[in-house]
Amino acid sequence: MRTLNVDLGARSYPIHIGSGLLADGDLYRPHLRSLQVMIVTNETVAPLYLEPVRQALDGLQVREVILPDGEVYKTLEVWNRIFDALLAERFARDCTLIALGGGVIGDMTGFAAACYQRGVDFIQVPTTLLAQVDSSVGGKTGLNHPAGKNMIGAFHQPRAVIADTDTLVTLPQRELSAGMAEVLKYGFIRDAAFLDWLECHMTELMSRDPEALAHAIWRSCEVKAQIVAEDEFESGSRALLNLGHTFGHAIEAGVGYGEWLHGEAVGAGICLAAVLSARLGWLTEAELERTRRLIAGAGLPTGRPAALSPERMLELMAVDKKVLAGQLRLVLLRQLGEAVVTSEFDRDELNHILA
Ligand SMILES: NC(=O)c1ccc[n+]([C@@H]2O[C@H](COP(=O)([O-])OP(=O)(O)OC[C@H]3O[C@@H](n4cnc5c(N)ncnc54)[C@H](O)[C@@H]3O)[C@@H](O)[C@H]2O)c1
Ligand SMILES: [Zn+2]
Repeated sequence: MRTLNVDLGARSYPIHIGSGLLADGDLYRPHLRSLQVMIVTNETVAPLYLEPVRQALDGLQVREVILPDGEVYKTLEVWNRIFDALLAERFARDCTLIALGGGVIGDMTGFAAACYQRGVDFIQVPTTLLAQVDSSVGGKTGLNHPAGKNMIGAFHQPRAVIADTDTLVTLPQRELSAGMAEVLKYGFIRDAAFLDWLECHMTELMSRDPEALAHAIWRSCEVKAQIVAEDEFESGSRALLNLGHTFGHAIEAGVGYGEWLHGEAVGAGICLAAVLSARLGWLTEAELERTRRLIAGAGLPTGRPAALSPERMLELMAVDKKVLAGQLRLVLLRQLGEAVVTSEFDRDELNHILA
């Protein structure tokens, strides 16, 4: 097991990464303030991993809420079931919620913890690659509204993140690829050496070599933890984590949520950001090609879906949260391993690369 710390003063917490952690009660117990523990999970993850977590917490007052599986259920109505369970069981302010699942469960549980009795503790037990490298770390929690994804939410940091790499064995291949988009993202924005490493180890990673995966998760969490510690509430450098996301969110919305996985859209979005960066003269043609090869190597798409017109894509990009004072800002690549947030591009250039 390897542990790293997210350094946020009084809100600091450990991220444990390794094999067999799910069932290790000693990782949970130091963070519990009372006997009351509510595990929130979904119908897919519960049959796989609920029992070992329950056993790890043997002797405590453990209850569970099992939500339906899917991004379409990341809604206020479904979220309310967590409060129904907490209140039915008379859980008090010193209870702890445990999010057992992917990013959907993590976001919903974290937001419930932020709101229940004005805030209780929660522990993230991420079981997808995406959740282990991204959504479980950093304290962004929330829900979707019919008018937009993640439009309702709060910053609420977990007390600990327990990332058991064994859970990735049961993950569908498409979900593994989607998580790899975020792993690659860290290399592109901050760490050229990690990008080199990923390039050399992509075959092992995609065939789920446990050691390669553990290293990739560890380095990804380290980069994310560093950026979050610099800018917890996204007033500056945290925005770099959105590389590929303005394009990606437009793709997700444009093709209809669930058609493309978030990570797939982000993979294509990173390629589009690289194309624009190359047009600005920041990346060479060879670097652009390398970017596409890396993304494709993780089993991800490298361009926008044919069915989505450039006009529609631009329209959707304009409603992204990253629009500031009416001006579209994008995360682009100064070079491979260094991202910047900028509005220093011509609208025509953007039209051109989308055409
Ligand atoms: N809070 C953040 O900072 C942040 C960052 C990125 C993404 N997100 C959010 O995360 C969500 C996406 O997360 P995700 O990609 O984990 O999707 P997800 O939670 O929908 O999980 C993907 C699928 O894998 C299943 N699953 C989970 N673990 C499994 C396992 N070990 N074996 C087999 N199947 C398993 C799930 O039930 C689901 O069907 C989105 O809602 C996104 O908005 C949040
Ligand atoms: Zn993302």
